Amino acid sequence: MELLVTNSPFTQEQAELLNRLLPTLTEGQRIWLGGYLAAQGFAAGSAVSAAPAAAPVTAVTAAPAEAPAAVSKEVTVLFGSQSGNSSGLAKKLSKKLEENGFQVTLSSMADYKTNGLKKVQNLLILVSTHGEGEPPDNAISFHEFLHSKRAPKLDGLSFSVLGLGDTSYEFFCQTAKDFDKRLEELGGKRIVPRVDCDVDYDDAAKQWAEQVVQSLQGAGAASPATAAVAASVGAAVISEESEYSRSNPFQAEVLENLNLNGRGSDRETRHVELSLEGSGLQYEPGDSLGVYPQNHPRLVEELIGAMGWNSSEDVPAGKAGERLPLGEALLRYYEITVLTKPLLEQVAKLTGNSGLQALLEAGREQELRAYLYGRDLLDLVQDYSLQGVPAGDFVSVLRKLPARLYSIASSPKAHPDEVHLTVRSVRYEAQGRERYGVCSVHLAERVQPGDGLPVFVQQNPNFKLPENPDTPIIMIGPGTGVAPFRAFLGEREEIGAQGKSWLFFGDQHFATDFLYQIEWQRWLKDGVLTRLDVAFSRDTDQKVYVQHRMLEKSKELYQWLQEGAVVYICGDEKKMAHDVHAALAAILQQEGGLSPEAAADYLSRMQQEKRYQRDVY
Ligand SMILES: Cc1cc2nc3c(=O)[nH]c(=O)nc-3n(C[C@H](O)[C@H](O)[C@H](O)COP(=O)(O)OP(=O)(O)OC[C@H]3O[C@@H](n4cnc5c(N)ncnc54)[C@H](O)[C@@H]3O)c2cc1C
Ligand SMILES: NC(=O)c1ccc[n+]([C@@H]2O[C@H](COP(=O)([O-])OP(=O)(O)OC[C@H]3O[C@@H](n4cnc5c(N)ncnc54)[C@H](OP(=O)(O)O)[C@@H]3O)[C@@H](O)[C@H]2O)c1
Ligand SMILES: Cc1cc2nc3c(=O)[nH]c(=O)nc-3n(C[C@H](O)[C@H](O)[C@H](O)COP(=O)(O)O)c2cc1C
Repeated sequence: MELLVTNSPFTQEQAELLNRLLPTLTEGQRIWLGGYLAAQGFAAGSAVSAAPAAAPVTAVTAAPAEAPAAVSKEVTVLFGSQSGNSSGLAKKLSKKLEENGFQVTLSSMADYKTNGLKKVQNLLILVSTHGEGEPPDNAISFHEFLHSKRAPKLDGLSFSVLGLGDTSYEFFCQTAKDFDKRLEELGGKRIVPRVDCDVDYDDAAKQWAEQVVQSLQGAGAASPATAAVAASVGAAVISEESEYSRSNPFQAEVLENLNLNGRGSDRETRHVELSLEGSGLQYEPGDSLGVYPQNHPRLVEELIGAMGWNSSEDVPAGKAGERLPLGEALLRYYEITVLTKPLLEQVAKLTGNSGLQALLEAGREQELRAYLYGRDLLDLVQDYSLQGVPAGDFVSVLRKLPARLYSIASSPKAHPDEVHLTVRSVRYEAQGRERYGVCSVHLAERVQPGDGLPVFVQQNPNFKLPENPDTPIIMIGPGTGVAPFRAFLGEREEIGAQGKSWLFFGDQHFATDFLYQIEWQRWLKDGVLTRLDVAFSRDTDQKVYVQHRMLEKSKELYQWLQEGAVVYICGDEKKMAHDVHAALAAILQQEGGLSPEAAADYLSRMQQEKRYQRDVY
């Protein structure tokens, strides 16, 4: 078969040269050349052996002096991940690279010994972004190191970066962008360009992996036969292991759905129990459950009405050309509650709307940011009079409705085949209209025992009980942040763990908002929970938060830290997690006599040693 620029990785000139050379080679010369390229590390062993026209393995090994066996390439895969997506992709990618003859070093960025970096030839980075454009916890130290003066020159490095993020955040995939830029500044060369993935990351991640594997296989992609091998390797790279997954959710039966808040509370927190029977899905305390929700029927109806659409018109809804009636598609398939800059750009392009185009102009970023916040698709179509755009065209620019994650509130040992969640309903008013959190309100208002809910397990290796059950644990979880600690204590009770445990819980009112009060009290009585401190913020004139309780108990808390306690924070990321972090630093300064810098170092060491773990959102 003739080599073309379209079926090979070669330039026109290279392809022409090879097309002239290859037909002139004898069988012996072809075998020799195959072995020679393999020995130079230009081709991975599997690619050579899979390519019938190249050198069969037996022929290569038959001439060891001239054609040594294939040498596998070394690849270092580093991941930075808060809730498990990037680490899951990194593990699958590594497994497939290994299956294809590469020697892989797989590590979380936190565990990676940076003194080895200079020797790395091929570096693949898979990293998400958290906070407001910040690295995930287990990427912080590596990110700092690489951006410091201590970072080595990396002239011999080939690298590629996969970013995971969410376009609804202003600093989309910022951490991936940081790494990509910095590695280039240090002298690295890109294997393939960085790919930034939105929430529905499967396809983009798969394509990136395909390109990376293909490029690393280098000469293996030279003939169509080997190119096909490389592509199929890539296609399998990110494929799912178990039957049920993010891309193939399990329909879990709802067993229970209760409001945990008492009458008169401002809040509504649902305790939802689901059956995993027959799914084969497994989880550990600290993992999360992904739930695919449905949009609010009222919003769907209002949107269809505002656009003058017909709800029974068929529209595309799915990658494989599936179609659904518009009403169904807007209810179950498309995201209609979040406005992002990329979405507005696409709508502006689709409609040619001049007002929208003006809002997207350079210099109006502040205004755009303010417009995006708290508005949905109904606002957009009304504010910019977009009536009349055909439904099929409009839905083609919408994102797929993403799953929501919930920290699992049950131990599988205590509740086999079940998974429990603690979900707070999000309701607020904006632009004079009631707004409903898509998933939380779906669970609160429209899901009954007996219904099915599409779910998957999201493993979170960054939020795990210590392996040694004697290790003391300190759990800080105001509001719904308490959910995983119900799983932790359930687990510790089941395994008869002897380690001490201390829970800090807070919410607005003792009388109505003390989530799972009876369970904590039983665990206290039985010795599963050693200490419980609570902060009810609205029962007193002055607000009292969990960090105030921590500071009141600073001596004992410092003593627990000295004894090797692992600290867990779960719940609000924006304020609470920062304030609790500051309280921990203050305790280290006050009780340990550390300077502010030494206290910060102490906490980042704890983070690296997995003695300080956060599940924040
Ligand atoms: C790892 C992880 C674990 C989690 N665990 C839990 C858990 O155990 N329990 C739990 O309840 N949640 C948890 N969450 C949060 C959960 O995933 C959802 O984000 C939450 O339920 C809201 O989703 P929703 O679909 O109901 O709301 P959405 O439709 O997604 O709306 C929420 C959005 O509305 C906007 N918004 C909210 N209030 C206002 C306001 N006053 N003004 C303007 N805009 C506003 C914000 O942009 C907010 O992000 C977790 C999140 C993560 C990432
Ligand atoms: N990113 C997302 O998608 C998403 C979605 C839903 C919720 N969230 C976040 O998740 C958080 C959890 O919500 P929740 O309803 O379970 O609980 P919450 O709002 O965090 O409230 C729990 C308790 O914490 C208190 N609190 C408020 N600010 C605090 C601070 N700086 N430090 C310590 N405690 C503080 C509250 O007091 P007061 O109320 O009296 O101030 C309340 O008593 C929310 O704050 C929200 O920001 C994020
Ligand atoms: C609290 C929070 C903050 C986030 N901040 C950002 C952000 O600033 N930029 C972004 O692109 N994505 C942001 N994301 C989206 C995550 O990067 C995305 O969900 C990613 O798939 C998570 O991957 P991980 O599980 O490997 O951490 C945020 C997510 C959460 C829960």
